[in-house]
Formats: sequence, structure tokens, C-alpha cells
Amino acid sequence: MDRETKERIASGELRHIAFIMDGNGRWATRAGKSRNEGHRKGAKTFEEIASYCHEIGVRHVTVYAFSTENWRRPESEVSALMRLFSSYLDTAIRRFTEKKVRVVFLGDKTPFPPAIVKKMKRLESDSSSYSDTLNIAFNYGGREEIVHACREALAAGEEISEEAVARHLYTAASPDPDLIVRTAGEMRLSNFLLWQAAYAEFYYTDVLWPDMTFADVDKACVDFLRRKRNFGGIDPNPGPD
Ligand code: IPE
Ligand code: IPE
Ligand code: MG
Repeated sequence: MDRETKERIASGELRHIAFIMDGNGRWATRAGKSRNEGHRKGAKTFEEIASYCHEIGVRHVTVYAFSTENWRRPESEVSALMRLFSSYLDTAIRRFTEKKVRVVFLGDKTPFPPAIVKKMKRLESDSSSYSDTLNIAFNYGGREEIVHACREALAAGEEISEEAVARHLYTAASPDPDLIVRTAGEMRLSNFLLWQAAYAEFYYTDVLWPDMTFADVDKACVDFLRRKRNFGGIDPNPGPD
């Protein structure tokens, strides 16, 4: 990554990148492997790319690992994804907490076995004092999150307002994403961060998630930093045309 890009990230222009990690299945099919092998390769890529983002100074990283709709997949694929997730709780995800990254799981934990929930909560509480954050969206759906946040706000006796809903979102520990990257050529949100994406910039690439490299992340960052964000206002210093 070039120095100017790094400096602009360090200055806070890009605080939060979220990835929709898509294309594991297509990667496997192209390589003549099983879909589950695609997920295993994708999980390795997750570990590398998330670490890289923190290294280049992006403070908050979110990855979409399993959606509330992914339960519709064949039972064998769902259970392979659950096993992979469970093994990552003890290894790769724990390593993030050892590197002083706060780990937060976005999504409804209730369908998971108690032993898994215990590990998830343990990782969250062990790392809750760190400020660099890794949000792992697992059994996450944007609509479920908004309903959940409203229920929590009401249960706390709060009136529903934008601030109250935002306070009870799973992502309350992070600012809204500046950049949402989706791999594998799809151009949709698939129920990801519906609330938080209000002013996110989107970046799409045909690269399949398991093939995603640090250079591809650099490209997305450079593209993002070229954009002009208005947040509904107007540019106070417009160019000559
Ligand atoms: C993304 O890859 C991983 C998950 C949704 C769990 P896919 O499994 O959706 O890969 P494609 O879209 O079939 O290629
Ligand atoms: C989105 O990918 C969910 C994750 C990356 C975890 P999908 O592959 O499930 O999305 P759709 O079904 O193609 O929209
Ligand atoms: Mg997909």
C-alpha cells in the first residue's frame, strides 16, 4: 500500500471496512473441489484479510460469514459451516483477541449450542477493552437486527428514536461502515447492515473471496478515497466545473 493511502487511513478517512465474503462455492467448483473446501479456503482468506486491514490502520473490520438466510442451504453444508466456525473460535478468532483486537459477534446467538455461545461470549468479554474491532456476522440478518434493537430499546424503557435504535444494534461498538466490499461479482446487500449502510460507499469486485489478496484490498481503499462523500450536503469547495 502506498504512503498517501496509509496516511489518509490513519487520519480517520476510512475507519470501518465491511466485507460480504462471497464466492466460496464458485471458487470450489472452478477448482474441482467440494463447496466445503471452498469455505475452508475462504476462512483462511478471512483471517489474512482481516489482519491486513488492521495492519494498514483500519480500526473496524466487519465480515459477513453466515446470514439468517444461509440456513436454507443443504444440511451438510450448514453443518460444515458450523464446524468450521466452532474450530475458528478456538484458533483464528482467539488469535485476534491475543493481538488486542476486540471481537464482536453480530447476530442472533440463540440457535447455537450452549458450549458455542459460551465461547463466543468469552471471546467478546475477554477483548471488550480493546478499541480495534473485528465484527463477525454469524447468523446475522439486517432485518432481524433492527427488530431486535427496537425490542431491546423498548425493554429498556426507551422511546424509539434513531439514536436509541443505533445504540441497540449488534454493531454499537463500531462507527457505521465507510466502505462495503462485496466479492464474486454480485451487486446486492443480501440483508447485510441495512441500517448502518445508509451512507456507506460500495465496492464490487469479480474476485472470488478465497482469491482475495492484499492488493485487492489496496485497490478498494484507493477507489474509496477517490470518492466524494456528501452525506446529503453539498461540496463546500467545488472544482471549476
Ligand atoms: C459465501 O460463499 C460464503 C457463505 C455464504 C457462507 P458462497 O457459499 O455463497 O459462494 P457462492 O456464492 O456459492 O459462490
Ligand atoms: C451473502 O452471501 C451472505 C454471506 C456472504 C455470508 P449469499 O451467497 O448467501 O447471498 P445471496 O443468497 O447470493 O444473495
Ligand atoms: Mg454466494
